[in-house]
Amino acid sequence: MKELVADFFNHVGEGLKIAEGIKYTGSKTFKNVVITGLGGSGIGGRIVSQWVANESQVPIYSNSNYSLPNFVGKDTLVVACSYSGNTEETLESVDEAIARGATLFCISSGGKLIDLAKAKNIDFIQIPGGLPPRAAIGYSLTQLTVLMKQVGVAQFAPFKEISSACEMLQANLDEIKATAKSCAEKIHHKQVVIYTEAMYEGVAIRLRQQLNENAKILCWHHVLPEMNHNELVGWAGGHKEIAVLNLRNEDEHKRTKERFKISGEIMGRHTDNIIDINSKGSSRVQRSLYHIHLGDWISVYLAELRKVDPIEVKVIDFLKGTLA
Ligand code: F6R
Repeated sequence: MKELVADFFNHVGEGLKIAEGIKYTGSKTFKNVVITGLGGSGIGGRIVSQWVANESQVPIYSNSNYSLPNFVGKDTLVVACSYSGNTEETLESVDEAIARGATLFCISSGGKLIDLAKAKNIDFIQIPGGLPPRAAIGYSLTQLTVLMKQVGVAQFAPFKEISSACEMLQANLDEIKATAKSCAEKIHHKQVVIYTEAMYEGVAIRLRQQLNENAKILCWHHVLPEMNHNELVGWAGGHKEIAVLNLRNEDEHKRTKERFKISGEIMGRHTDNIIDINSKGSSRVQRSLYHIHLGDWISVYLAELRKVDPIEVKVIDFLKGTLA
């Protein structure tokens, strides 16, 4: 998995080339967008929907379930993401989108999703197969951002934005890997909780999923300011077993910065393991990619410390097999 994390930059480069082949022929007068997918294929939608939320003239939702929200209909663009193309929840939501007359676009490496898209003349883009789906994030993020630009939802220039983010990451790679290694050492043997500002929640979810699947640990995430109104109370009583990873960004609301400071003081009475990880970058996309890449490295270094195989997800395979 270390090699696959290091390959992120190649995946992004190839992903941007593949995205040049995106030909969206559907309606451009939709009133809302839903990006649907699960796990490693759902997270791209979560992150991209937050990237474009402020610029988009239409609401954009991410969905990770069999069914679609009730508002989905003829005026909706549904983007279905499944790396394998065989995830039953995603396939069922696609059937529902078709039944409700929504416009569809599919992103997958193959499987039933691509077969269906071909059979029903649905627009799709095919990405290379053979990776664990979560390691294909360089492909899913590029396809989704370019698509969002093409349909008029994203205003920023995806090629320029993502390429310059990768240049910035590569220039800081030694520091990123050193920070990730030291974080992995600090959180080893601890229960991990990740906090970030609400507009970056997708990035926190990505780190949680990577720690689950690569490092094989349970952990949770929450966002500020919401956690100040509930979870902070749960810190009472002492929690030396918990390590906190605060994913911090310079564009946090000024009151959220203050909230992080006070929350840190409160939590600091109960644990001595609070780690602030400050992103780098001049835009939300760049800052997100900084934390995503650094978080991916944390997960593989932690897997190494825990002596677990970061690639295998036998339990997910078992579950899918049992349901089949
Ligand atoms: C990640 C992973 C899972 C899958 C999820 C959905 O590596 O194995 O999170 O992404 O089970 O499967 P796909 O991505 O094929 O739709």
